[in-house]
Formats: sequence, structure tokens, C-alpha cells
Amino acid sequence: MENQRGHVLVVAYPAQGHINPLLQFAKRLASKGLKATLATTPYTVNSIQVTTVGVEPISDGFDEGGFKQAPSVKAYLESFEQVGSRTLADIILKYKNSSTPINCIVYDSLLSWAIDVARQFDIYGALMFTNSASVCSMYWQIHQGVFTLPVEQETETVSLPGLPPLGLPDLPSFLAQPASHPAYLAAILEKYGILNQIDWVFCNSFDELESELVKAMLGQWPLKMVGPLVPSAYLDQQIDGDSAYGASLWKSKNDRCTEWLDRKPENSVIYVSFGSMADIARKQAEEIARGLQASNRPFLWVARDMENKLPRGLAGETGLIVSWCNQLEVLAHPAVGCYITHCGWNSTLEALSLGVPMVGVPQWSDQPTNAKFVEDLWKVGVRVKKDEDGIVTGEELKKCIEEVMEGEKCKEIKRNADKWRDFAKKAVGVGGSSDGNIDEFIEKMMKRER
Ligand code: UDX
Repeated sequence: MENQRGHVLVVAYPAQGHINPLLQFAKRLASKGLKATLATTPYTVNSIQVTTVGVEPISDGFDEGGFKQAPSVKAYLESFEQVGSRTLADIILKYKNSSTPINCIVYDSLLSWAIDVARQFDIYGALMFTNSASVCSMYWQIHQGVFTLPVEQETETVSLPGLPPLGLPDLPSFLAQPASHPAYLAAILEKYGILNQIDWVFCNSFDELESELVKAMLGQWPLKMVGPLVPSAYLDQQIDGDSAYGASLWKSKNDRCTEWLDRKPENSVIYVSFGSMADIARKQAEEIARGLQASNRPFLWVARDMENKLPRGLAGETGLIVSWCNQLEVLAHPAVGCYITHCGWNSTLEALSLGVPMVGVPQWSDQPTNAKFVEDLWKVGVRVKKDEDGIVTGEELKKCIEEVMEGEKCKEIKRNADKWRDFAKKAVGVGGSSDGNIDEFIEKMMKRER
């Protein structure tokens, strides 16, 4: 039977910062009349609550608890490749003779083996970067031999096409300290060599945000910016109709957060969160607590599993500490005036899209580069300085909070934050740069053009 609508299978790596943008992309495709199915691991399937997208389980070989059950990151990623390739092929076969055979696999950049499965069935394969295009271009430049690892400690700056000069502390930790996470680095770099042969390379970002880089990469990869992949209701659009991503690996305490925020004056609250993966040391948590107390402002801290590292009685009269929240709902609340963030790419894009000034406290992976751009390129916040032990002191944090919440610099940061929020809305709105890129992809896919 002829497939009129087209069916895209979106394959996500099972972590919050990966499922969110990939599921959101699937919802956008569904809103444009396609059938979209998200493939994710059996233990994350139950966290998905969306009506417009189908869900299929794909196995990483650790169906009871995933990553935590694996002896190492390397073993986990190898198992995912082996078992995942098989179960991905099973999903394609399941739909093959139905009225909705799969036309294209969009796969998370950590799962680069999915392109081989797409080729095996002669269907399109498209990769989705869940980091910024700038960060991804740095990994690509290693393939091109523009720079090699390890970067010499005394190197003052690295100059790369389309990017501002970058010092060693501005590079993703996987490049600045390549020995720190070799398995992740290997998984990222694998197949970067064939980026120019993939049908589409999507990125959760938008042209205006990384315009110089987009120009520099023209003709290098088939790059299409399709973000910010944030539920459209937060961008004043009625595209996907949902006011949440529709996937939460933790239970959120949002009623409590909203009630608490409702009682606070506009732009008065500091929101603190370090995302879903970073492990904050006790000493660092204590210094952040000191900085918050010294700033003497209300704060909402998402502690996830680090509540036992926080000083007793910290919340007191002025604070609220929860284990997880609906971050978008919190960032969109008018009471929030500053976001102390690890600068994970999703969190950075969410704050940019909602016009919330940031204090960047990067931890690992792409976060140092994101924090550098927040401060120097987009000028929507400041980045903390760490002491010689790698700790952000309470005094430093207080100083940064004050810079983004009061005085002249604060006004400039707020103006820039509003500007980027408007650009983000425009990019995903009808006829915007990202919306146009998605339309073009659908048209070419349906006409079987490459
Ligand atoms: C990590 C990396 O840091 C990130 O840059 C990479 O692209 C993906 O892996 P993570 O640490 O989870 O991700 O950070 P981030 O990318 O910011 O994603 C966290 C997501 O969880 C965001 O979409 C955020 O809205 C959501 N979140 C976070 C909540 O919904 N509630 C919370 O309380 C905290």
C-alpha cells in the first residue's frame, strides 16, 4: 500500500537531555502531518506521555535499568550497538508491510551505528546533534586534522572556522581532557568521517544563534538547524499544542514550585539546576549554598539526588529545594530573574528561548563552551571563575548573581536575553528558519530526493 504521509522513526539515547529534543522533533514532524515514532529503551518507555507520537522499545541490552547495570560506559555503548542494531531492524521490519512503512530514521548522534541499519533497508538516515552545531564542528575539525588531541596545555587559543578564538578552558571537556571520558569521545567521533555522506544532519539550534558557524560549514555537511526543540507553547506558537516535553525520568513537584513562585515578586528568584547528569561534589554544593545565602534573594534549587550534600536548614525562609521540576514551567514564570545553570545544551537553549539571564557554572562535556558563548557571544549572562582547586566560591557566585540581577550590566544582559528570545520564537514560527528547514526535509523525503 502506498505511504501517503511518510513515517519517521526517531531514535533517542535514553537520557533526559537527549529524549527531550528528539521527542520534541518527533512531535513537530507529527504536527506537519507525518507519522512519527520514538524508539527508546524499555525502561524509559513508560516515562513518555504524548498522544501524537507512537513509541517503540529499542533494547540497549540492559532492559531492567540500562546504563547503571553496565560494567562501564564502553561496555554499555558496545552493547547498545549490538543489541540496538538488531531491535532497530525489528522495528523497521514490523512496519515494512504495513500502510506506514518507515521512510527515514533520525538518530541521536551518540548512536551513529543506526545509519548502517538505515542503509541495510535502503531508507533515509538523518543524524540529530543534541549539542550546539559549534561544539559538533569542533569534533569534526579533529577529523579534518585542523587540530589534534591532546591540545597542548600552553596553547593560548584554538582558532576554528566560524568560531571565536577559544582557550583551553572553553573547549568541551572531552577535548580539553581527552583521557577523562575516552568511551564517550570515541562514540562521538565515530562516523564523524562520514558526516558528508549522511542524508541530513539536524541540530537542535537555529541559524541566527550560530550564524557564522553555519556559514563556515556550508557544503561540509548537510546541516539543517531545526531548533530550538522546546515545546512550542513556550515560544508563543500553537504548533504541537503541548506545554511539556512529554517525557520525565523523575517525578516533578511542580504544584509546589508554582505556588511558591506565585508569591514572589517579578524577576526576584534565582533558579538553580545542574541538569540530569552532573555530579556536584559536597564542597562545591556547600559553596553554592553560601553564595545563595549571601545574595539574600529567594532561590529555587533542583537538587535531584544531592539533597544530602546541602547544608541542613538551607531552604530556611527564603528558599525552596525540590528534587525535580518541570524546568520550562519554572523558567517561564515571571518571578524567575536568574538561572544558575550547568549550561547543558537543552537548559541553555531553554533559558535563551524564554529570555532568562544565566550564571554559567559548567561541569563537563559541552558545557564549558556553552558557558563561554552565553557570556561572550550571546551576552545573556556571565560565567563563574573557578579557584585553583576547581571550586566556585560563595563570594564568586554572589558577585555573578549581582552582575546579572542588578546594575548596568544586568540591563544589557536582559536586553540581549529578550532579543534572543524573539529570534528563537521567529525561527520556529511559520516561515521561520528552522520551520523552513523542517518543511524542506519533509518535501525532499517524500519526493525521495537527496
Ligand atoms: C547533558 C549535557 O550537559 C547536554 O549538554 C547534552 O546535550 C545532553 O546531555 P543534561 O545534563 O541533562 O544533558 O542537561 P541539559 O541538556 O540541560 O538537559 C536537561 C533537561 O532536563 C532539560 O531539557 C531540562 O528542561 C530538563 N529538566 C532539568 C527538567 O525538566 N527538570 C529539572 O528539574 C531539571
